[in-house]
Amino acid sequence: GMLRQEVRILVIGLDNSGKTTLINHIKPGSTSTFEVTPTVGYNVEEFSKNNLNFTVFDMSGEGRYRNLWEHYYESVQAIIYVVDSTDNLRLCVASDELQSLLSHPSLSSRPCPLLFFANKMDVPGSLTPVEVMTGMQLDEIRDRPWHITASNALTGTGVEEGVGWLSEKIM
Ligand code: GTP
Ligand code: MG
Repeated sequence: GMLRQEVRILVIGLDNSGKTTLINHIKPGSTSTFEVTPTVGYNVEEFSKNNLNFTVFDMSGEGRYRNLWEHYYESVQAIIYVVDSTDNLRLCVASDELQSLLSHPSLSSRPCPLLFFANKMDVPGSLTPVEVMTGMQLDEIRDRPWHITASNALTGTGVEEGVGWLSEKIM
């Protein structure tokens, strides 16, 4: 059979941003209508898609688990950062976490691509991707490819577009 490229992806973002829900949509053939519960520590998902073999690390975004994120920086080819675009109050926290990621020694020397989802776009009054970009100073990221797209992880809207971008950057 064909040798598929192995791709390791880290999915991070604050608690309740929608990471686990979004990963359920990335997984091929998964049924989307089940309840997700807050992730404890992390979960690993493995599947094939876009001719790539994915290993996805679904991290908990809860404060006490965020110190786990950095242990995966070194071994992944790409990072997905999910932002809750209805959580205006904690956008600065999401931004702070991003700044520590960007200055981390395991990543600062490596142009590993960063995909942002401005998630929960279905909620009225949610921030637009441009507002999330501004609030998180994404325009200052110049040392690696990055992309932001709006998503609704409940229906999958926007998810394929983002993952398509990421797959191209990895190949
Ligand atoms: P942790 O594992 O605690 O870090 O959270 P998480 O980022 O994995 O979030 P999770 O996927 O558990 O989703 C949190 C809540 O947001 C759930 O109630 C989801 O149903 C809801 N949710 C996720 N994505 C969306 C979305 O796009 N729109 C709306 N309206 N709700 C969403
Ligand atoms: Mg989760």
